[in-house]
Amino acid sequence: MMKNPYSKDFPQLNNGSVYLDTAATSLKPNSVIEAVNHYNRDLSSNIHRGMYEAAVETTELYESTRETVAKFLHAKTDEIIYTRGTTSSLNLVAYAYGLENLKAGDEIIVSELEHHSSFLPWQFVAKKTGAILKFVELNEEGRITVEAFKKVLSTKTKVVALTYVSNVMGYITPMKEIISLSHQYNAICVVDAAQAVQHIEIDVTALDCDFLAFSGHKMLGPTGIGILYGKQKLLNIMEPFEYGGDMNDDVNKDISEWKTGPQKFEAGTMPIASVIGLQKAIEYIENIGLSTISEYIDKLQRYALAQLKQIEGVKIYNPTSETGIITFNIETVPSHDAISFLAEKNIAIRAGQHCAKLICDWLGIYSCLRASIYIYNSYTDVDIFIEGIKEAVAYFKKLGF
Ligand code: ALA
Repeated sequence: MMKNPYSKDFPQLNNGSVYLDTAATSLKPNSVIEAVNHYNRDLSSNIHRGMYEAAVETTELYESTRETVAKFLHAKTDEIIYTRGTTSSLNLVAYAYGLENLKAGDEIIVSELEHHSSFLPWQFVAKKTGAILKFVELNEEGRITVEAFKKVLSTKTKVVALTYVSNVMGYITPMKEIISLSHQYNAICVVDAAQAVQHIEIDVTALDCDFLAFSGHKMLGPTGIGILYGKQKLLNIMEPFEYGGDMNDDVNKDISEWKTGPQKFEAGTMPIASVIGLQKAIEYIENIGLSTISEYIDKLQRYALAQLKQIEGVKIYNPTSETGIITFNIETVPSHDAISFLAEKNIAIRAGQHCAKLICDWLGIYSCLRASIYIYNSYTDVDIFIEGIKEAVAYFKKLGF
């Protein structure tokens, strides 16, 4: 079997585990680890404040990462805001745009595929403003379709907040068509790209989305850093979300002024080490190429699914998933019992509701298992995983489950 050429770059794999939990968080390559260490070891200093050598280099790295992110997304540098993660990015939009611009009777389109971070902020905005949440009806596979989207889109729609790739089903939303239709009704589109950005090429200019959010830690980067892309004209009319140091231009007793551009939304000391690490994560992904990444993941996923389908007692919920996410249950076995069994064998997958209870409700299940594949996984990983599931089925059957 072909050897995985990337696994050597991920030192955590030396612990011998079969890591199939990238949708929860990815492993980090040496280049990212070294960049974070370089800051902590050699450069600790704050940004935009000091004139000494370390501070200047840190500021350069911090701002050049913004350029790297902007190029990666085909955005302007001033449209890239650093946040704590996708959750912070989406909350920022809900608070700083949603609360200010929505009123009673306006409609917000969401779906049952949303991660809680793409749903709860809008549920909150709806409660506060009197706006109404509208759900796109999922098709029989559990996908968002353009046809179903058209049925909920209307002149009342003001915000469309949808996931680009579902963290449970792994489906890709037809986002470009949805955005184009939304704009015909003057609605703004907020894209949760937390599970998309590491799999598919995203060109925010071509996509024409109004906001797009993702996290560094699911795309080989460090935790604690997220990105919010926002169209400049929208960012310009928004008030800051947090107030504090570095986001102001002039502070007075009566009235103060804010910086323009992304700094308006970056109050206080930001996660500098994580920003610097994110640059290396993007470089790592770009060096391989997202099309190579997705082709490889697709092969591995098909290899895994073909075997998983043969195991009696296993129910797969997303056999047509496109992005390395396989969601299933060993029927009659609670998902946390199943992952405990697999953990004993050093197989790391996730169980539960995956911060997306609405899709579990839609599937009619309390919880499920999720294996998620990424570039560092090998065919051997899949073989061990499949063997682990077979053993789990046999074990729980013997126990009378
Ligand atoms: N949101 C992450 C997941 O889907 C944690 O597992």
